[in-house]
Order: sequence, then C-alpha cells, then structure tokens
Amino acid sequence: MPIHEQASFGEEVRTGLDNAALPAYAPMLSAFHRACGPALQAIVADLPVEPGMRMLDMACGDGVYSVWLAERVGKTGHVVGVDIAPAYLELARKNASSSGVSERISFQTGDIGGLPFADDEFDLAWCAHSLYSLPDPLAALRELRRVVRPGGVVGILENDTLHHMLLPWPADLELAVRQAQLDALRETAHSIGKFYIGRNLCGAFKTAELRACHVRTHTIDHRAPLSADEQVYLEGYLRDLGERARRHLDQAASTAFDMLLEPGSELYMLDQPDFFASHLEIVAWARK
Ligand SMILES: C[S@@+](CC[C@H](N)C(=O)[O-])C[C@H]1O[C@@H](n2cnc3c(N)ncnc32)[C@H](O)[C@@H]1O
Repeated sequence: MPIHEQASFGEEVRTGLDNAALPAYAPMLSAFHRACGPALQAIVADLPVEPGMRMLDMACGDGVYSVWLAERVGKTGHVVGVDIAPAYLELARKNASSSGVSERISFQTGDIGGLPFADDEFDLAWCAHSLYSLPDPLAALRELRRVVRPGGVVGILENDTLHHMLLPWPADLELAVRQAQLDALRETAHSIGKFYIGRNLCGAFKTAELRACHVRTHTIDHRAPLSADEQVYLEGYLRDLGERARRHLDQAASTAFDMLLEPGSELYMLDQPDFFASHLEIVAWARK
C-alpha cells in the first residue's frame, strides 16, 4: 500500500492529501497500537459500553479501535468505522477480517465535516487521536453529538502536545524544543488551542453541549530494552518532533537535540541501556 512521504499529525487535512495513500505516520501509529495494545484496550474497556450497542468509530484509521469496540458490544452490537481516506479503510477492512468479530463491523467513507448518518443513530461515538488534526475540533464534536441518541455517549482519546511524552533529556533542552514545537504549530494552524485540546476535553464537551464529562489520564511507560514496536513508535515520535521543531531551535539547542535524538548518534536516547520514557493518554466521554 502506498505511503505519503509527508503528512504528520495535525497537517493532513490542511495539506489536502489525496487520501489514496496512507499518511507517513501510518507505520508509527500501527506500531503504537501494538506496543501499547493492553493499555489502549483497558481505555476502551473503561467506556460505558453495553452489549447490543450501535457504535461509531470516527476517523477509524487502521480500524484497531473498531475491533476493540466490536469485542465489547457482543453478537447483537455493531460498530461502523468511518474515515475520509480510502487507503486507511482498505487497511481497516483487512485488519478487521482477521479479528474474529468482523461480522459486527462495517467500514465506510465519511467526512467529519458532514457525516453520512441521520441524527441520533448511534449509542456511542468514539474518536481516537484525530480531533486535534481536524481543522475545527469543536465542529467535529458537535457533529459526533448530532449522530448519537439523546443520552448517548461521545468518547474522545487525545494527547496534549506539550505534555505528551516525558523523555530523559535535559530540562532546558526540553523547554527549548517544546517552545520550538509551539512556534512550528503556530505556522500551521490559525488556532493553536486545538493542539492542546487534551487538557481541556471536558471544557470542549461543554461548549459542544455534551454533559456529565468523565475524564481520565492514563500513563504508559517505555523502558529499555524496547520492543521493536516501541522502537518504531518512539523513533517516529522523535522524528516528527524534530521535523517540526528543528527550524525554530538556535544552533546550540539544535546540536544538543541532534546528539540525543538522531538515530546513529552515539548518545541516541533510544539506544541507552537505562532509557525510560512515559507518555500520557487522556480519555474523556460525556453524554448528549
Ligand atoms: C491520526 S489518525 C487516527 C486514526 C485512528 N483513530 C487511530 O487512533 O489510529 C487520523 C485519522 O483521521 C482521518 N481523517 C482526517 N480528516 C478526516 C475527516 N475530515 N473526516 C474523517 N476522517 C478524517 C485520517 O484519514 C486518519 O485515519
């Protein structure tokens, strides 16, 4: 399956990709699902799901959450995975077909800007790691609210860009890199707030008229020796960070950054025998 060379999180919609190819981050995201599978499944297990529910997995990507949700709804339930990208839907169908719950899942094309569903169609609408890359996260929340029934649930999994990953780097370099990252994000979006939506999910829900917000932050640790999937995930994370931040770093910070974060460098963080990193996953859900 073809893969786009560019397209990092937060830029895919704006850059108008043709969607016939997977975004460049796709292998990294799938490695993340495998590396953190048990923790992510525990997050899904916390959702207020009952057998027989009809659920939407919005921006389903490779379909991993569609499968995990389908495992929870029982034989009488159903999950509809929706994505704008045909390449991702093809991958999702392939992944689901070997899952054992494929008969409970269907996939279809759709744009969060106007979902192809009537009002009140779903008991629960789920959206993982996609809200902040959409041009208007609040409009997306309102659209998810529209398609769930009164009393139904909208659930969101997100990160907080500045506090996504605790890495073993010097604190002054961390601050410089995070500032550079913020400067880079400012160039790509008219509203920088959307990259920090993770810290204010309940506030966003309230604005979208969703009530009784539950929110929980999960931490996932990564410790040497890293699994192959953890390695791919963390390498991808650091590469994406570098591509964004490097242009906005001064020479000294850029050199320090490269020494610690460039594969091949003697000090490359991920190769250190005592490497430890921890990352945050924020999940919130609320009712219509
Ligand atoms: C970062 S991925 C997350 C995918 C999946 N939820 C996961 O957690 O692995 C973002 C997803 O949003 C999809 N997407 C982007 N813009 C969209 C839109 N306007 N409507 C529907 N899906 C969209 C992309 O194709 C991609 O699958």
